[in-house]
Amino acid sequence: MGTIRSDFDLFRKANTPVVAVVDTNFGDNGKGKFVDLLAEFADVTVRGTGGENAGHTIVHDGVTHVFHLLPSSISRDAEGKVSIIGRGTVINPGSFDGELQLLEERGMSWNGLRASQDAQLVLPWHIALDRVRETLAGSGKIGTTGKGIGPAYAAHRARVGVRVNDLLNPDLLRESVAQSYREATAYFDGVPPYILREAVRKIDGAESFYRAKGFFSVATVTEWLIEKSLRFRDCITDTDALVQKMLNEGKRVLLEGAQGVLLSIDCGTYPFVTSSDCSINGLAQGSGLRTEDVGYAVSIVKAYASRVGEGPFPTELRGEEAENLRHLGNEFGATTGRPRRVGWLDLPLLRYAVRHASRTFALTKADVLAEYGIVKVCTHYLYRGPDRRVGDRLLRRGERIDIADPYPWILEHCEPQYREFKGWGPIPTGATRSKKCLPPALQEFIVFIEEEVGARVELLSVGPDREDTIAL
Ligand code: IMP
Repeated sequence: MGTIRSDFDLFRKANTPVVAVVDTNFGDNGKGKFVDLLAEFADVTVRGTGGENAGHTIVHDGVTHVFHLLPSSISRDAEGKVSIIGRGTVINPGSFDGELQLLEERGMSWNGLRASQDAQLVLPWHIALDRVRETLAGSGKIGTTGKGIGPAYAAHRARVGVRVNDLLNPDLLRESVAQSYREATAYFDGVPPYILREAVRKIDGAESFYRAKGFFSVATVTEWLIEKSLRFRDCITDTDALVQKMLNEGKRVLLEGAQGVLLSIDCGTYPFVTSSDCSINGLAQGSGLRTEDVGYAVSIVKAYASRVGEGPFPTELRGEEAENLRHLGNEFGATTGRPRRVGWLDLPLLRYAVRHASRTFALTKADVLAEYGIVKVCTHYLYRGPDRRVGDRLLRRGERIDIADPYPWILEHCEPQYREFKGWGPIPTGATRSKKCLPPALQEFIVFIEEEVGARVELLSVGPDREDTIAL
């Protein structure tokens, strides 16, 4: 356990029992590290959105842990912390069981883990649907993680989802699983069998419950779900009530966002988004709280940009430049291993994203750009596309854009305009506690972002370990 200084105690600093952490970008900004750090001061950490599409990387005493469904605070279970998978998440019982097995193999406990009885299940046909849709979409694909996230959320909204609580009542489970499958087959009917077969090929346990003619066996899937839930069934509870009870007892609650605002189903670059609301609102709701319960929120902002999957990315770098940054920043998907697309920090998108996040920033991966001769920041765009109506205004070709509209059909025609900074060289850690102790070029970079976005950088991450963090 590292020595964490009390100036990371944002609960005390902001005098609030509820702190939220969200990513302002396309995910992968280094949220896991901050959640792990802040979890030191929380009694309970709640994941409110997403599922195993997330990949939260935590480096602890030189050991790297990557969690997907599990809250990042699980590495602090032995300290008596409670970790909750909230009502707004989607859970694949097979993967959940697998992550717990991995913890056990590493000698890590999960006594404080609880899963919402109201969360939705990701079923094998959701995964198949996700992959079939991507295959059929061809070049128009979204580039999903292929974990069935979209179809599971869609089933929830279509009122044909299966809730976690059904796992505890086999007769109810049989009914809801059968109904869910009936809905899915309506779609599968029109899919060529070879595409369906390919889609189910890598699904956990698929051989046993997928029948050759292109149909799943509902009975086998139901049995499989029950078997996979044996390890965690005692964790299933009313987590909304638990969070409320802990708040009433004066406990501190940390909300862990997943993905990022620009991937939010509601405010991201739709349709190139995930299927949950990754904003503060979505996070609070999925954690069983109200947005106004969140007393303090931190936006995780990376010193440059990255994106996994398809969709607009105005400041994207290509070729050798991209390769360099990708390797320096180790930008490879924690869930899928896919190389992440990388680019420069994009202030028009950031100015938009903070509306759904917070203006208090934790700036991450500043160390990655330390040795760069020139670091660029996109200050605004020039719009080069056709004239378009956007709500009640007309966007004209050649117009300057300071705050991005999150629409692919606009972003793909935006030409980024940059301001250049010098690389700042090595960043001292340890005793550094104010901006004035930082290399002048980095100070300039930070102050520029703060002034341009109307935000304040309160925390700075200069490496993957807990200790590589500076409170400013
Ligand atoms: P889905 O969430 O698997 O449906 O994927 C939808 C989009 O969100 C794709 O572009 C994914 O690459 C992206 N995505 C989902 N989860 C994450 C994440 O944790 N980090 C970064 N991108 C993600």
